[in-house]
Amino acid sequence: MEKMQHYTIANVGETVTLYGWVAKIRNLGGLVFIDLRNRTGIMQVVVRPENPNYTLADTLKNEYVISVTGRIIERESKNLKMETGEIEVEVDKLELINRAAEVPFAIADDTNALEDTRLRYRYLDLRREKLKNNFVIRNAITFSTRKFLNELDFLEVETPVLCKSTPEGARDYLVPSRVNHGKFYALPQSPQIFKQLLMVGGFERYFQIAKCFRDEDLRADRQPEFTQIDVEMSFVDEEQVMEVGESLVARIFKEVKGIEIPLPLQRMTYDDAIAFYGSDKPDLRFGMEIHDITPLFTTTSFAVFKNVIQEDGVINAIVVKNVADKYSRKDLDKLTEYVKTYKASGLAYLKYGEEVSGSIVKVMNDVELKSIKESLQVETNDLVFIISGDYSIVKTSLGALRCKLARDLGLIKQDDYKLLWVVDFPSFEYSEEENRYVACHHPFTMPKEEDVARLLTDKGQVKSKAYDIVINGYEAGGGSIRIHDQSVQELMFKALELSEEDIKEKFGFFVEALKYGCPPHGGFALGLDRLTMLLVGTENIRDVIAFPKTASATDLMSECPNIVAEQQLDELGLQLKEK
Ligand code: AMO
Repeated sequence: MEKMQHYTIANVGETVTLYGWVAKIRNLGGLVFIDLRNRTGIMQVVVRPENPNYTLADTLKNEYVISVTGRIIERESKNLKMETGEIEVEVDKLELINRAAEVPFAIADDTNALEDTRLRYRYLDLRREKLKNNFVIRNAITFSTRKFLNELDFLEVETPVLCKSTPEGARDYLVPSRVNHGKFYALPQSPQIFKQLLMVGGFERYFQIAKCFRDEDLRADRQPEFTQIDVEMSFVDEEQVMEVGESLVARIFKEVKGIEIPLPLQRMTYDDAIAFYGSDKPDLRFGMEIHDITPLFTTTSFAVFKNVIQEDGVINAIVVKNVADKYSRKDLDKLTEYVKTYKASGLAYLKYGEEVSGSIVKVMNDVELKSIKESLQVETNDLVFIISGDYSIVKTSLGALRCKLARDLGLIKQDDYKLLWVVDFPSFEYSEEENRYVACHHPFTMPKEEDVARLLTDKGQVKSKAYDIVINGYEAGGGSIRIHDQSVQELMFKALELSEEDIKEKFGFFVEALKYGCPPHGGFALGLDRLTMLLVGTENIRDVIAFPKTASATDLMSECPNIVAEQQLDELGLQLKEK
């Protein structure tokens, strides 16, 4: 493959042979100009009327596959925006290799073709340079990963894709077995159990670039099948695993983007992340931390705040610097609607101009207004937003609001990366849907030693040895120290309200393995797709997956999922129910 960008003005006079696609063709005053595209870029090719190839050149169309042999010459009119814009190839030999039908959308970086059309013809979409570059970066990340982990003696091992379905986590994708009538495999949500069994198997340091499958509701950063950089190590504590994780990420940033990430990364407890940023994946690229101003109102006569305090709620604020004059009443109403989608009951604000104004000025006394100003260190033209009510609703809604304001106000700089570890996660979170506590990470995560005793009695208070690596507000990866003691693992399953039977049937093989000298171990998994998104600067995970699914988990190109022949169902012993 000839690398277009390798040719510059210094190569004038050389003869080259290039293969590729006609990206653009135009006949200007008798001269035919062809933009020839291959994976590495574009080269202008010129064919003059006296050239024996002229007739053929003049019949070429966009996306025809051609080869060109010719001499590199200096262009008369240069295009300095193009990498090869100072030169062109004067054709000696032109060959038409294959014709192309008219394409359903123009192949250009700034396309306005609908995403559905682009997904339907993904192979054409992939011809766009911008998209293709995402895969160059993705490849650089996996290459860098393999080098780094090999240097540290990690073994790359593949684990099965046809697995046993286990409860907990997201919904499984199931695969019916023909040979074992009535039985099903599940596609792995992650290689979690297998990598732990590799530690029992004495591998000590494992990694895998692993496909994972989860049947869950999709979002801009979630696909039903995605890839993890999955790592596990024996005889380690949390700090040692986090050190490998952050060094790997730093190496990737350095090799792929040339960006130096200072190590060690900041560690922030889960409780602090929620308290100050309203999220377990705080975006630290802009300030606007959440302040608890509840203590300022213990003797307030403002009924709303008084009630909130009586009901053990909180009053929290964020300060937006120097924008009070930018927000109209209408803008503020829109923000109120926005926080209501996070269940906040309302959004109070104070604008600090010459005088203080805002929705709650009339109901605050002077002392309260002064104490807000002082405790939040408000300056002229600052805007203060206040939400009161239930702790988690207040935190979540202010957390979402600060991110929205940062985006709206353009406070986020390109190529600014803020990384941190969020640590000390709770072991359990309460699921309203299931009416019980479920595992915050997964059921194999080790609780803090001091909390093991209260696994069955005080679940809400149990903290775990789990950590997430967060980049610019995205959960880029996560992991934990695992339970290596059989009795603690059984206790954990019980805490998750799995019956003895369930434990035996679903996890029996795993609990048994822990009996045979299981080393202490831990690990992590980075979301390769998310990491690539962050490094290429896209918010759409589909931009970094060659053949992605839509939000409703379909592939528009191959039309999958699809019905199968009756005979295939018969072989599997399956019959479809009416929906
Ligand atoms: P977890 O479930 O946190 O941990 O997944 C690890 C990372 O994988 C990415 N990720 C996803 N990316 C795209 N689409 C999805 N649907 C999706 N789900 C997860 C995220 C996430 O941080 N076995 C554990 C890891 C461990 O404990 O070692 C696990 O799977 O970036």
